[in-house]
Amino acid sequence: MKDLNLTHITEEVKKIALEAGKFLLAERQHFELDKIEQKGAHDYVSYVDKNSENLIVSRLKSLLPEAGFIAEEGTGSLEEQEFCWVVDPLDGTSNFIHNNAPFCVSIALRNKNEILVGVVYECTRNELFWANKESKSYMNGKEITVSQQSNMDQAFIELGFPYNAEGYRTFVLKMIEDLYGHVGCLRLMGSAAAEICYVAAGRFDARIEGFIGPWDIAAGNIILQQAGGKMTDFSGNTDHLDGKEVFASNGRIHNDLLTIIQKHKKHIKA
Ligand code: IPD
Ligand code: CA
Repeated sequence: MKDLNLTHITEEVKKIALEAGKFLLAERQHFELDKIEQKGAHDYVSYVDKNSENLIVSRLKSLLPEAGFIAEEGTGSLEEQEFCWVVDPLDGTSNFIHNNAPFCVSIALRNKNEILVGVVYECTRNELFWANKESKSYMNGKEITVSQQSNMDQAFIELGFPYNAEGYRTFVLKMIEDLYGHVGCLRLMGSAAAEICYVAAGRFDARIEGFIGPWDIAAGNIILQQAGGKMTDFSGNTDHLDGKEVFASNGRIHNDLLTIIQKHKKHIKA
């Protein structure tokens, strides 16, 4: 593998994420609902997502010309490059269009199946999360770590509702039935990338969602790992980066929660 200066790359990616975030916030000032297009059922996009992606992609191309892309709004190549940027130019699109928080920019650099760098900029709270494989995890310059919570009765757990309602509905309803009233609290916020960083920062103890994209989890994955947390699929495997099953936790409640997930996993329709 080519030797990369991860500190330098991380610093540059932080600037790019901040620039894209500034663009999102500026557009939010005058965004109108009639600018929305529909990608799929209840899955929206607008010129804001697309222009943010164009901006990020052009900056990243100058930073590492040999790297490929997997980006939510379509930038990508099927060739197997050694390095690949995994980009969500606006995670939390539904929050953005309804002027709700959080929404963010998420950028990761991947070498084959290993994430090297992750940066997430959550615009509404002006929070920049980052980590690389040689660093700890940080938010606005301060080191972050996962929570110490090991008691399910106290756990603060975040769920996600993916666009694939048909595939996910029964599973998530069974999960809510088992968790609601038996854990500290359940929440739903609407930006997977930001919420995985909230697990890394100890705000949530765990987060569960299926049927999301690689761009929703790539940056969060390394930020969570370097903060002491754990991300697996719904069988407990760590070598998953496609976003089909995403279970992020502080590590301490992982096994207890995994037992419940595994009990209901059969209800997910592929
Ligand atoms: C969505 C958000 C949301 C999650 C959805 C994602 P998008 O991404 O992360 O929290 O529940 O499954 O698709 O469409 O806003 O980039
Ligand atoms: Ca998006």
